[in-house]
Amino acid sequence: MCGIVGYVGSRDAVVPVLEGLQRLEYRGYDSAGISFKNPEGKLQVVKKEGKLDNLRSVLETQKPKTSIAIGHTRWATHGHVNETNAHPHGNDLFAIVHNGIIENAFELKESLQAEGEKFHSETDTEVFLVLLTKLFKQTGDIKKSIIETFKQIEGNSAVVILNKDENKLYAIKRSAPLVCGRRSGRESGELFLSSDPYALVGYVDRLFFPDDEILCELDPEATFIHFYDLEGNATEQFQKEARSTQETLSTKGEFEHFMLKEIHEQPFLTKQLAGFYSEGVGKELLDRVKGKKFDHINIIGCGTAWHAGLVIKNILESELRVKVTIDLASEFRYRDPVLEKNELALFISQSGETADTIACAELCKKKGLTLYSIVNVKGSTLYRMSDENFLIYAGQEIGVASTKAFTNMVLVGALMAFTLKGEDAIKTLGSELNLLSDKIEALLSRENELKIIAKEIFQEKGFIYTGRNIYFPIALEGALKLKEIAYVHAEGYAAGELKHGPIALIDEQMVNISIVGSELFEKTLSNTEEVKARRGKILVVGVKENSKLKSISDFYFGLDFDGLKYFSPVLVNVVMQILSYYIAKEKGTDIDKPRNLAKSVTVE
Ligand code: G6P
Repeated sequence: MCGIVGYVGSRDAVVPVLEGLQRLEYRGYDSAGISFKNPEGKLQVVKKEGKLDNLRSVLETQKPKTSIAIGHTRWATHGHVNETNAHPHGNDLFAIVHNGIIENAFELKESLQAEGEKFHSETDTEVFLVLLTKLFKQTGDIKKSIIETFKQIEGNSAVVILNKDENKLYAIKRSAPLVCGRRSGRESGELFLSSDPYALVGYVDRLFFPDDEILCELDPEATFIHFYDLEGNATEQFQKEARSTQETLSTKGEFEHFMLKEIHEQPFLTKQLAGFYSEGVGKELLDRVKGKKFDHINIIGCGTAWHAGLVIKNILESELRVKVTIDLASEFRYRDPVLEKNELALFISQSGETADTIACAELCKKKGLTLYSIVNVKGSTLYRMSDENFLIYAGQEIGVASTKAFTNMVLVGALMAFTLKGEDAIKTLGSELNLLSDKIEALLSRENELKIIAKEIFQEKGFIYTGRNIYFPIALEGALKLKEIAYVHAEGYAAGELKHGPIALIDEQMVNISIVGSELFEKTLSNTEEVKARRGKILVVGVKENSKLKSISDFYFGLDFDGLKYFSPVLVNVVMQILSYYIAKEKGTDIDKPRNLAKSVTVE
């Protein structure tokens, strides 16, 4: 989703800003732009629809020289995808970039228009610009005008502001990601801003995560970042988490796509996980939560994280015998849930920045629940809000379609479940983690079989993924993966529910990807028979070397589940990931950056 990068310092500012935007490409966007001060001291804005390369080629011709710049990749929310609506928005005094949504933009715009103010775009962002400019003309005070404008906007936003007469950047946010960075050692100081620390890797040695409603002033003269509260008083309250960046940039290595690389990382990541939780902070965390009792567990997440939550729910319920409910964050936040103090709110998120998930965390915090998170990004908003964080240690996930994060979410969820049960989770699950790793490895060596199946079925009209019980979440996740990257209609369904509607869709151009494990084997098989009877194409992913499955299916992918007590859904899911990948490849889609999607959805 939208990305922000800002730089002020001694080097050519366009370079780190463009580089930062490029690193944020994986988040999804539809236009890009940059604003900087030109040698005459004027603010210049350059923006282009489409890929960042379009913007880059304009800048390569112009070759601007500047020490201060802000850049943005836009994922349209208010207004069409076009150059006018792209960010930055600017006039002769200010240029701004914005992530999030100004919920009262319509009302503010109307009243500003009534006062004679002019607008050029359809965006909510321009409302901030126009209001800020108006207030600044009245007061002549930049900080005050930014704070006052910010106070008037509703909703979750992060805004970065560049003023024509100052060599400083300003930023402020509410429930939207924002990080400031500093590189020490250079004579005049170099300061950075972004909506994602990944943009700053290698550029900074300190990161600062400002709290909500704190104005950040990046002043290279002072080689420091000043923070102010909404009264304009300097504050030191910002530094919830200040850390250096140790991460490294991800590369595709030998793989054609990040997604494929990330699928292939799973055997290693799976094996590595027990290590993280056997010693150090991981072990301390498990020791801290061991045997903790909650009256009820609320699981909340979006997309793939929600699917991981469904798998985790099954494990929690069957092991703890405690009531567990699971909600989509976008629903939970508005359905006025009944929440009690001795409940656990368990958030699942790869990025830790998903707007709906964060809003639910705020709600649960207010209600006094304990907040645990299963999260990948250390230092993310969710991470900082939670009482305990179960890091999934999946490393940077670049492919928009989540793969390895799903796997590690489930595995960490299981470790959490057995720990809450009072067991030594590593002892209980350690050998199964190793076994799973070996089985994924073995499965990856059969990738070609799935590639061949993909070639046979990629042109079919639609795909219905089915499974029962522990495999139902995998049917949902398998279908989601295919939709995301292959742009074909796919649905995940509980196999037993097929005859209550979706069976009407079955004909010879529909593929039923049927997950058949050993539990509920006969029942799932008969659901698949019903599809077969209606001439649907059958791909069975299920127990290996089974003559019944062989005879019913057009394509059969047998799996060795032996020894897997808890993690067979994870193994099946890897099959779904590979299959989606190769179907998408046949379709020729943009696998790592599928159209219309964003890696991290930071708006509602
Ligand atoms: C977006 C991504 C999905 C992801 C979902 C939740 O829609 O494209 O892959 O599952 O957000 O993201 P989170 O970071 O909270 O896990």
